[in-house]
Amino acid sequence: MLERDGAMGQQRAFTERPEAGLPRHIAIIMDGNGRWAKKRRLPRTMGHRAGMNALEEIVRACNDMGVQVLTVYAFSTENWKRPADEVSFLMQLLLEYMKKKLRELHEEKVKIRLLGDSEGIPEPQREAIAEAVALTADNTGLILNIALNYGARREILRACQMVAQRVRAGELKPEDITEADVEAQLFTAGLPDPDLLIRTGGEMRVSNYLLWQIAYAEVVVTDVLWPDFGRPQLLAAVDEYWRRDRRFGGLGKN
Ligand code: IPE
Ligand code: IPE
Ligand code: MG
Repeated sequence: MLERDGAMGQQRAFTERPEAGLPRHIAIIMDGNGRWAKKRRLPRTMGHRAGMNALEEIVRACNDMGVQVLTVYAFSTENWKRPADEVSFLMQLLLEYMKKKLRELHEEKVKIRLLGDSEGIPEPQREAIAEAVALTADNTGLILNIALNYGARREILRACQMVAQRVRAGELKPEDITEADVEAQLFTAGLPDPDLLIRTGGEMRVSNYLLWQIAYAEVVVTDVLWPDFGRPQLLAAVDEYWRRDRRFGGLGKN
């Protein structure tokens, strides 16, 4: 399902270290919009707008490179704590992004998916995302997961509840529950785990993001603020990923 036409060819042309391979799945915590705006004495909202442009560039870069999955943290379950005007600006911006970019994303064969509780998302945004997901469902390019109203603990809890229902229905015994049974109920079911987790804005924390899936992700934290994060910064993060020795608990190459 994840095999992409020509992806291997592009990968070889792109990387000087084909043996290391591209990360199949890149997850990003797009942080630092507010600080970017503050540095320029602009309202925080302008930082979010600039962040939207950065997202556009990174989606295109990942698609061009042949990355299979890009997961971006757009709005967390905790972000509802922010002032109402900032929350509504962010929601408006999402609508704007969908309206302006959906056609282009579709033409570029990007497949859009939602990670998060759709019930908690306001109606217009929920509809716009549902439309984008339906329109791009058969696309074979980059899978773009938008984490919106997303919290990893809630995702894992939801998965536990679904597994528990299977137990109650007599389909599964508690002692037979496997990691695959839990994984099958996550929003990312069927996708490879992130190989590379990038956080912009310099904070050394994961802020309730993909807690199950990042078990063995390589973490790259950069001080660059999200609106300043473009293609060169993405390539630098991938370069850093290549320099890592992924051991998965074993002894590795060195
Ligand atoms: C990230 O930027 C965007 C969202 C959380 C929606 P912030 O708004 O958190 O920016 P900082 O961290 O305040 O600079
Ligand atoms: C994480 O950033 C969430 C998103 C990027 C959407 P936050 O700015 O909300 O994270 P904290 O509050 O610094 O942990
Ligand atoms: Mg922040």
